[in-house]
Parts: sequence; structure tokens; C-alpha cells
Amino acid sequence: MSYKIAKGVFDILPQDPAPDGQWRCSHLWQFIESKIREHAKLYGLREIRTPLFESTDLFKRSIGQTTDIVSKEMYTFADHAGRSLTLRPEGTAPVMRAFMEKRLDQQNAKQSFFYIAPMFRYERQQAGRYRQHHQFGCELIGESSPLQDVEAIECLLTFYQKLGIQNLTLYLNSIGTPDCRAQFRQHLIDFLTPLKQQLSEDSQRRLESNPLRILDSKAPCDIALLENAPSILDHLSSEAKNHFQTVLGTLDSLGIHYIVNPRLVRGLDYYQHTVFEITAGELGAQNSIGGGGRYDLLLKQLGGPSLPAIGFGTGIERILQTCLQQNTPLPSPPKPQLYFIPLDEKARVLCFNQLSKLRAQNIEVEMDFSGRKLKTSLSEASKREIPFVGIIGEEERVKGACTLKNMRNQTSETVPFEQITHYLK
Ligand code: HAM
Repeated sequence: MSYKIAKGVFDILPQDPAPDGQWRCSHLWQFIESKIREHAKLYGLREIRTPLFESTDLFKRSIGQTTDIVSKEMYTFADHAGRSLTLRPEGTAPVMRAFMEKRLDQQNAKQSFFYIAPMFRYERQQAGRYRQHHQFGCELIGESSPLQDVEAIECLLTFYQKLGIQNLTLYLNSIGTPDCRAQFRQHLIDFLTPLKQQLSEDSQRRLESNPLRILDSKAPCDIALLENAPSILDHLSSEAKNHFQTVLGTLDSLGIHYIVNPRLVRGLDYYQHTVFEITAGELGAQNSIGGGGRYDLLLKQLGGPSLPAIGFGTGIERILQTCLQQNTPLPSPPKPQLYFIPLDEKARVLCFNQLSKLRAQNIEVEMDFSGRKLKTSLSEASKREIPFVGIIGEEERVKGACTLKNMRNQTSETVPFEQITHYLK
């Protein structure tokens, strides 16, 4: 019996031998994660870690029963006591649950969180869509100012910029309040009902359950039919209009380019007012690298305090794939500074003793235990691009030293063991 990885998921490895496997290399994930932490600190975001699973009702109630995520993509199971649990398909609802449960608003009604976490969605197999993906997410609770919307968007964009990612497009929309949407919903139904038979199967179903989602359809037949569809932007209350105008005006003042897309509705039901999505041309059909929006009613709807909030999520897989396609500067795999090659048994013991002494002085050092030919060991060191090799034979052992070979310029020097640290630094 041979075991294989489950469909739609992947391993993150020190090295991935597949030609397109570079984005799955662990040193690149560590790099992105360290950049996230650095960036989060600048914006006062504090880390939150919630469990991998939550009660199923939390997601049904927050994401919405008729969404794709809840209706067909959740990994739901019963535990031994028969409770229905679901592997987290997204990060916002769990953060709200933790915020409410721990009454964090009693410390401070305004709080900003970030997370780096795996999400689970039973997606149709497709390039760029995984059944376990990883998000850098941010949730800013307690502020209703449109400036907060801009801060969230700017935070995400500057993060991409910091990584050197270019050619991104920011799409924005306002989906108003539930009142604005109720009015618009009827206009949309009136417009689409005579066209029902020409709509895609999915959209025909949504016409009853969630007509706004039809606007987001990628089916070519729907796209053509939607060209003359009514726009939500014509049905916003004056308050919602003002909010959106201030968001747009502030983005203008910061020189942030955007495209207003009145069809952008996003696949989660908790949003209202501003929604946004950022796409990268390099990602192909699954081109959304990040997205988010305002969700002022969610906390209250889940039984918590009435506090506004906004946030975003961005997929780490898609970030890395974009970085690699755009050749942005990324670190190379880690390697030791020094590699010992002992030439006989006594030298091996001596080298082994030196390892912990050097590591105690923060020198990244490894040793060849194998006893193979010097040439073979040297060629491995060269393949791994290790900058220094310490060769120890009988002569060196007697002197308490090693022949330190600089692999870049191929020069060698005899260096006593106690001076290695000084020499390398
Ligand atoms: P989302 O748009 O569903 O939003 O996901 C955010 C990002 O996660 C996407 O833009 C994409 O980069 C990545 N992503 C989503 N699904 C997959 C997948 N199957 N495979 C690979 N990457 C994927 C949310 O999840 C919201 N919770 C974001 C948010 C936070 N809104 C407010 N706060």
C-alpha cells in the first residue's frame, strides 16, 4: 500500500523537486511570515490564534447559508459527543467569536488583530485553489470611519509593495446597508427574471436564494447578460454614498489607484458598505490575491456588542506564486556558514566536539559524518553553496586547527579552532 497526500493540499518542504514547486519551499514561507509580522507591528496589529475548528453554526450564521462556502465547501464533522464542528474556512468569524467570548471589548472597544492561519475549503480542483490554503488576515474592530477602510486597504497594498509585487489592480465597491440591498435586490430580480432561461445553471439557482451573487458570476453567458444590469451604486442611501465617496476621495489623496466595480459583491454574506478585491494578472483564472470589506453588523448578529469592523485576507500561496512569477527578490535556502570535513576517525571526534562550541557562539555549522572521499564532500559543499569548509586531517589535528577553505575564491588558510569564530565574523 502506498500513501499519497490528499487531493487539493500540499506539503511545505525545505526543497520541492517539482519544476513549479518553488513556492512550496519552507524558507520562502518563513520569509513571508516574518514580513507579515514586521508589517503588522507598524500598523499596531496584534496576533490572534484561534483553533482550527469551531462549531458549525458559527460559520453558517456569519458567512451565510446560501454562500458557496457554507453550502458546499465546508469540512464538517461530528465529534465523539455528536457536536457538529467545522474546519475553519475563513478567519473573520473565529476572531469575532473569540472577541465576544473573552469580552475583549471591555478592555478596549477598538482593537486590531492579525493572523497567519490555514483555512479549509472543499474547492473544485483547479490551479490556484487549494483545499487547505493559508491567509494573512487582519480584522480592525471598533471604528466606523471611512478612514479605517482606507487604512485596511492601504495596509494590504503596502504589504504587497514591500515584497516588490507590482501590477496589481484594486477593485472597490459599496454594497451599502441591508436596507439598500433589499431595495436593489428587487430591481435585480425584476431585471433578471425575464432572462432566467439564458442564465447559467448556478445563477438560475441563485436568482431565488442569493441574487446579488449573480453579479459576481464568471460564466460567460452571465457576463454578457449582466452588461445592462442595474447598479447597486444607484441604490445606496445618502449615508452609504457619503461613506463610499470619502473612501474614494481618501484613496485619491494617497495616490492609490482603484477601479470601482459595481458588480463586486464577494462570496461572504457578512459584508456591508465597502468591499474590495486585489487581483494579480499573473495568477490566471484565480486572480484574487487578497480581498476584504466592512462588516459592521456581524458582531451584533452573532450575539456580541454592536461594534463596526473591517478586515482583509490574503492568500500566502498566491502571494508567493506572484512573487516568483514577477521575479521579486526572495531569500535563498538557508545554509551553514561552515562545513567540517574530517579526514579520519580521530579528526571526526575532534570536529564533533567543536560543533557545539561553535554553535554556542552562534556559528551555523554542520559536519560531514560519512567518511567518504574528500572530493565528494567538497563537491556537496560547493553544490549547497556553503561559503567555508573546515578540513581536518592528522596535521591539523595535531595543531588544534583546521584548513579553512573559502569556497568562493578557493583560498585556504590554517586557522586554530579558537579563532574560527573571529575569522568567520
Ligand atoms: P476570501 O476572499 O474568501 O476572504 O479569501 C481571501 C484570500 O484568500 C483570497 O483573496 C485568496 O488570495 C485566498 N484564498 C481564498 N480561497 C483560496 C483557495 N481555495 N486557495 C488558495 N487561496 C485562497 C476571506 O476569507 C475573508 N475572511 C477576508 C476578510 C477578512 N474579510 C474581512 N476580514
